[in-house]
Amino acid sequence: MRIEIKESLNHIGEEITLYGWVDSRRDHGKIIFIDLRDRSGLIQAVFLPNHKEAYVIAEKLRSEWVLKIKGKVNSRPGNMINDRIITGKIEIEILEIEVLSEAKTPPFEISSTGYEIGEETRVKYRYLDLRRERMKDNMVLRHKVVKFVRDYLDQEGFLEIETPILTKSTPEGARDYVVPSRLYPGNFYALPQSPQQYKQLLMVAGMEKYFQFARCFRDEDTRGDRQPEFTQMDLEMSFVEREDVMALNEKLLISLISKIAPEKKIQEIPFPRLSYQEAMEKYQTDKPDLRKDKNDKDLLAFCWIIDFPFFKKNDDSSWTFTHNPFSAPKPEYYDQLIKYEDIEKILTTQYDVALNGYELGGGSIRNHKPEALKAVFKIMGYSAERIENNFGHMLEALSYGTPPHGGIAWGLDRLIMLLANEANIREVMAFPKTGDSRDLMMGSPSELDAKQLKELHLKIN
Ligand code: AMO
Repeated sequence: MRIEIKESLNHIGEEITLYGWVDSRRDHGKIIFIDLRDRSGLIQAVFLPNHKEAYVIAEKLRSEWVLKIKGKVNSRPGNMINDRIITGKIEIEILEIEVLSEAKTPPFEISSTGYEIGEETRVKYRYLDLRRERMKDNMVLRHKVVKFVRDYLDQEGFLEIETPILTKSTPEGARDYVVPSRLYPGNFYALPQSPQQYKQLLMVAGMEKYFQFARCFRDEDTRGDRQPEFTQMDLEMSFVEREDVMALNEKLLISLISKIAPEKKIQEIPFPRLSYQEAMEKYQTDKPDLRKDKNDKDLLAFCWIIDFPFFKKNDDSSWTFTHNPFSAPKPEYYDQLIKYEDIEKILTTQYDVALNGYELGGGSIRNHKPEALKAVFKIMGYSAERIENNFGHMLEALSYGTPPHGGIAWGLDRLIMLLANEANIREVMAFPKTGDSRDLMMGSPSELDAKQLKELHLKIN
């Protein structure tokens, strides 16, 4: 049975077998040392000339070779203890060794943090970049966050339900990625910018409480907190008001942080609330950084932004939504919406949660009455035909007995970035795109061959 390196601490005096990568090798003439690395940590392995066969192999070893070693776990003398590694109190005296795989010299240092290495090289050799301890720790943290949220929402009675990736354009305000259809020439699927419509349809379907770690796709320019492909923690609930959704999310965030990132301090509980107007007047942004000490890396300042205007004017003076066409107005503005009065004064039920100057998430209570949704589209000047083509299915669905409902989505990558004290969401994604939206490891985007283009009824212009 395989033993993880960190467990070797429980086997002092015994012979055990370990597997891992050569992290480093030091040749001290008679004695050769290597640090062997697996996901759980490092251990110092000692090769003595009296175990001749193993010693001869040790002379050839290079960084990143994969080994199986058998040896005896010994305590280190007090003056040799190394507090920087998890197994610093012990070492393993090698009796047998097998090289499972040799390695070319890696293109960059693996034992460093990696911040000093150019993005392009790191992304091209991501499978090596992920070997570094910092990146491994980020993947572990991501796993723990997802697991905590999943268990928490399960306890709260939520169902995890998957929604399609091949779908139809949803107006979330960004450009769509599209996929040509082979069977329907000239027709395209769109990749979801978010599961917004599906999660609402799940409420019509009576699922009552839904969540999903949803992959979303937006063809926007990439920034430190923005990737073309990212993950939302997406949820929706029936028979709720704004306060219910906000309270559940606040409780979830607080328990998540106390359990998964206990070194962090939340500056203020309950999270302070600002109206959009207040936030703009005081901080000139709707995602203010409220930290009292910006040098404290463990301080988290959450706040809610509420009372957003529903509509804003386009350059051509037509109206568009500020967040989401599916949001309901605050109840006291419902009549105004239906009667198209004082449109600029209508406030929405939208709530955003900001954290340390980033927009962490956003959601709203939805228009569960078809006439309210129709009014929104009319205000935006959509023709009857456009409403029918793009949203006919939603209006129809809402007309079959729809519970009042609302939800939220957090940018999961952003949350983990902030918990990991990283400055870019790329650092917490296993295989992110570069700043210019490429995957240099796989070499995408890439051209299609003529046969595939033909099958898809496409001509490159
Ligand atoms: P919204 O568009 O505000 O809302 O998205 C929710 C959250 O997703 C994160 N996010 C991103 N993260 C990384 N890269 C991106 N390109 C990116 N775009 C957005 C942000 C943001 O707050 N359907 C609604 C949610 C709802 O109303 O329930 C929606 O998608 O952290």
